[in-house]
Amino acid sequence: APNARLNAVGMFASDLALARRPQNTHKGSFGDVVIVGGAHGMAGAPVLAARGALLAGAGRVFVAALDPGLAYDSVHPELMFRDAVSFDFSGRTVVAGPGMGDAPAASRLLFKLIDSDSPLVLDADALNQLAGDADLQGKLAQRKAPTVLTPHPLEAARLLGVTSAVVQADRIEAARELAGRFDATVVLKGSGTVIAENEANGVAINTTGNPGLATAGTGDVLSGVCGALLTQGWSAYTAALGAVWMHGAAADALVEQGIGPIGLTAGELPGAIRTILNRL
Ligand code: APR
Ligand code: MG
Repeated sequence: APNARLNAVGMFASDLALARRPQNTHKGSFGDVVIVGGAHGMAGAPVLAARGALLAGAGRVFVAALDPGLAYDSVHPELMFRDAVSFDFSGRTVVAGPGMGDAPAASRLLFKLIDSDSPLVLDADALNQLAGDADLQGKLAQRKAPTVLTPHPLEAARLLGVTSAVVQADRIEAARELAGRFDATVVLKGSGTVIAENEANGVAINTTGNPGLATAGTGDVLSGVCGALLTQGWSAYTAALGAVWMHGAAADALVEQGIGPIGLTAGELPGAIRTILNRL
């Protein structure tokens, strides 16, 4: 059964201090996030993740895209687009997977990232590649840097080699199993998102969020927010808890304003998350 750490807000209360900014700081104080993805025809996913990271307070946000044609976000010209293959990831927090595809270049990149010292969030296509590659799984289990996996139930099922019905029948068990297997923090998404970590056996069930989130791209925003908290000094588990909690709370606030649940769009979440962070 889940332990006493169920109250996400109480759980990461000590980390909320990290959301308050000392006066004498500069953008280098708040870390870099790099979104790795954006294969041809999949421009939206990495851009949504990047906007999530930017508005959740990362100092600088890059999109390291597989498609060189992905070059600019007119809503957020602050985002810096680079070529994924030649990008220097060292010292930067990486979010891999949104719109990443499964081309050979993407697999090579993923191997390099898992083998690196960079704090890492793995989502979407990165998880699907991982599910089909035993070498990559072995590397992941050995990694020392903070690591967060953010599967939805089908992605979790592929990783575990079961059906999504089996995952959904015992979500806490599925999240714990993945956290143990890969020695990582796991966010099993869906109504009642489960956050599990291996180290201290922490498990939490998120209480925020609503069916307005059941729309394309909301998971991409979540992965970017998680990367932003990691790069601002939150631990893997508290970044996962915090990101899931504020992502759901943002959707709840938007519903309160009549922006959803029907027709809520993923692109509206980053601004609402920013408001929540600034009011903590
Ligand atoms: N209640 C609360 N939260 C919900 C609900 C709900 N009823 N439905 C969805 N959510 C939340 C999830 O918890 C998660 O945070 O919305 C988000 C959905 O994330 P994903 O399932 O990853 O969806 P999406 O962003 O569209 O994924 C984009 O990546 O994972 C792949 O196959 C996926 O191609 C798709 C792409
Ligand atoms: Mg997704």
